Amino acid sequence: MKGIFLNRIKLMFVFGTRPEAIKLSPLILQAHARNNKFETVAIATAQHRAMMDDVLSAFGIKPDADMNIMTPGQTLFMLTSRILSGMEKIMEQFQPDVVVVQGDTATAYTASLAGYYARKKVAHVEAGLRTGNKWAPFPEEIYRKMISSIADYHFAPTETSRQNLLKENYPDSAIHVTGNTVIDALLWMEERLRGAPCPLEDFAPVLERYKRLVLITGHRRENFGEPFLRICTALREMAMKNPDVCFAYPVHLNPNVQKPVHAILEGIGNFFLLPPLSYPDFVWMMRKSCLIISDSGGVQEEAPALSKPVLVTRRISERPEAIEAGVIKLVGDDTEKIIYESQRLLDDPAYYKSMARGISPYGDGRASERILDILSGSLKVS
Ligand code: UD1
Ligand code: UDP
Repeated sequence: MKGIFLNRIKLMFVFGTRPEAIKLSPLILQAHARNNKFETVAIATAQHRAMMDDVLSAFGIKPDADMNIMTPGQTLFMLTSRILSGMEKIMEQFQPDVVVVQGDTATAYTASLAGYYARKKVAHVEAGLRTGNKWAPFPEEIYRKMISSIADYHFAPTETSRQNLLKENYPDSAIHVTGNTVIDALLWMEERLRGAPCPLEDFAPVLERYKRLVLITGHRRENFGEPFLRICTALREMAMKNPDVCFAYPVHLNPNVQKPVHAILEGIGNFFLLPPLSYPDFVWMMRKSCLIISDSGGVQEEAPALSKPVLVTRRISERPEAIEAGVIKLVGDDTEKIIYESQRLLDDPAYYKSMARGISPYGDGRASERILDILSGSLKVS
């Protein structure tokens, strides 16, 4: 079969964490489907182990190489140096035409640097997000800026992110507004879940006992320590004030998250601490929920498309579009504010309706298609 595909473009997709796997999966699947144009290599750094594996099995993707670098409690120093040194052999072995990275993680940054060292073209998916504050999100803001300075293709999800790149003098011709591939992933998964009952066997009977579900996630490094304690205190108060509401928190595996969450939130009758959910299960839970409280980047993008209000437990966000549209709201780590805003959304139907409007500022489900059209149109491989 291989012999009939002459002059294909070899795309190397590098991912390591849960969100990168979710956001690159639709692109990898589409590149596979266009195998007359593209040869696809999928490299897993496995910066996350279980959380990345869950996503790959949901999308049916098998990496061509797995660097297996995760260690419990890894530091940023360990992470970046281990990925970068591992990438040398990967570049030599696979010789890509383009290295495709997504977002703002240690994997994305080091893989883009590896692509540069190997003198390959680098494509950045989800380019141009900025807060302007190098400490928030930490270290993602700086990773994003460094990836931009390396990338040959900037695939910006929105016009705002395009403008951010223009302000930093990146050439207009290299910036393409495509939407965010997370919406491709979400719509793909929603289609498969249509009408499905609760996939969480043990949790299904629990859910039936409650009228409403509040879904929670949290993992940002800048919230570790005191901010996390303030957020968890607000969540505990909310659960105690609203015994008829189910609060479910699939807890991120980072030990800096596990410890405070279990210490403050265990043992409350209507508060359920769950392991991280597979992507299909989490999408099902988002659809079932009435309110999401989260500091996640991906959740801020997905929830508006599902008409779910999000209270964002961050002081600043690089995703201003949904805030400006009034469908998500920043509440920071202020205990009183989190309680006030959540209670208002639970008690005031008109206010709730104003935030649950079903608009999708981050895409229409066709971002992967646009990205591959641009790559196939602009690259000639001899
Ligand atoms: C990472 C990214 C962050 C992204 C987040 C998504 C960096 C520096 N951080 O943060 O940008 O928003 O992923 O979730 O790139 N762990 C497990 N099993 C797993 C995953 C994690 O046990 O499957 C534990 C390990 O102890 C690991 C720790 O979590 O050492 C931290 O993982 P790491 O990827 O370094 O940081 P995150 O906080 O997950
Ligand atoms: N997600 C998931 N299971 C969970 C929690 C989140 O599959 O238990 C998905 C969520 O739908 C989103 C992505 O993981 O697509 C967000 O990942 P995370 O919050 O870890 O990282 P961030 O987006 O903040 O970088």
